[in-house]
Amino acid sequence: MQSFNNLRVNPVRFEDDFNVLAEFGATPDGGVNRPALSAAHLAACDWLLARAEAAGLEPRRDAAGNHSARLECGPPGAPTLLLGSHLDSVPNGGRFDGALGVLAALETLRVVRENDFRLPVNLEVIEFTDEEGTLVGLLGSSALAGKLKPDDLARPRSGRAALLEGLARAGLDEAGLLNAARPPNQLAGYLELHIEQGPRLLRAQAQIGIVSMIVGIASHRLTYFGRADHAGSTPMLERQDAAQGACAFTLALRELVIEHFPQCVANVGMLSLEPGAFNIVPECARLALELRSADTAELQRLEVSALELARREAVRFGLNLEVEAAGVHQPAPLSPLAQQVIGEAAGSLGLSAISLPSGAGHDAQSLADSCPAGMIFVPSQGGASHSPRELTLWQDCLNGANVLLQAALRLAVAVTGEGQLAGMEI
Ligand code: HGY
Ligand code: MN
Ligand code: MN
Repeated sequence: MQSFNNLRVNPVRFEDDFNVLAEFGATPDGGVNRPALSAAHLAACDWLLARAEAAGLEPRRDAAGNHSARLECGPPGAPTLLLGSHLDSVPNGGRFDGALGVLAALETLRVVRENDFRLPVNLEVIEFTDEEGTLVGLLGSSALAGKLKPDDLARPRSGRAALLEGLARAGLDEAGLLNAARPPNQLAGYLELHIEQGPRLLRAQAQIGIVSMIVGIASHRLTYFGRADHAGSTPMLERQDAAQGACAFTLALRELVIEHFPQCVANVGMLSLEPGAFNIVPECARLALELRSADTAELQRLEVSALELARREAVRFGLNLEVEAAGVHQPAPLSPLAQQVIGEAAGSLGLSAISLPSGAGHDAQSLADSCPAGMIFVPSQGGASHSPRELTLWQDCLNGANVLLQAALRLAVAVTGEGQLAGMEI
């Protein structure tokens, strides 16, 4: 009986892949710019499929534009344990966010294949499309989980034009997206390795994060309408200045959250003024508002309070306000079983681990109520992410990949209740 615990990813191959992948959409300052369904993102996905095929895996792309590769290492008709993350990035993002998890998943399937394992389940490395919401948000994982609704596509977070342009570029269509669900009984589970994107693991001096839950996210588009006037000859108190309403709301929102919703966060990530000239009082201000909470009811309360505040500022500056919902993802507790096997895997590798919630959204929250879903975090240097400053030390990347490998094999057995891997002992 070979020892199950001694298996490790191939460090050289893993690092080579990581460095090659980081070239797709590379930015001069060490980040990547791979917005969903952009040429850079699609090229990275094609490369992933080619690497998977070269490793003897069966490449696939589903109707939602998710790219994956399968290893039929289970009995015929066995459910599939999905391992993965995403290859799309935020604009001018970091090279670890998503990419680390996809490559660690690819490594896991390679090691299982190279050791000729037979498992109680099949394995599949998957890259979910548009995780970041530069089109819709958690698009590919919501589609696979059967949660995508026509309304999500009718009013996508980043606008219909961007969505339709991306779908056309990728040869996808809305009907395909809405029919890409995979029957839950085909899913044995889902595990995702991801960088923490915050400071907590470093502060706790922990090597591994066992994610307990994932935050809920509500997005809105706010538009303040005022009146264009001459910036020089219009008395200050007679202006209907859309910029004043937008900026007053943004500042007051920060105080509202800090004082009344200390467990939540809020962000105005985009703010544009129209018509946009030095010498015109802005008649229109468009804001992208994002609210996050770990609790569904609290997220709703925060939404009500934030939008009431937005309306008050509109009245204060004599403006009209239009509010458009732009998507919501509910908070998701992660599988206790998945958390248990991640903890066991970290322990078998002698790595320190803590349990923590995720302040970032992830594809795992789409799948959390379809199958046992779990996430492994590794430390982000300086807590930086969604920026070229994003950095996870390579040893931490290796630790995370080995925890994913060990946890995947444990979960493969645990979800089927079969205590022995064929020919292997745990
Ligand atoms: O925005 C998020 O929380 C994630 O990075 N998509
Ligand atoms: Mn991510
Ligand atoms: Mn991200």
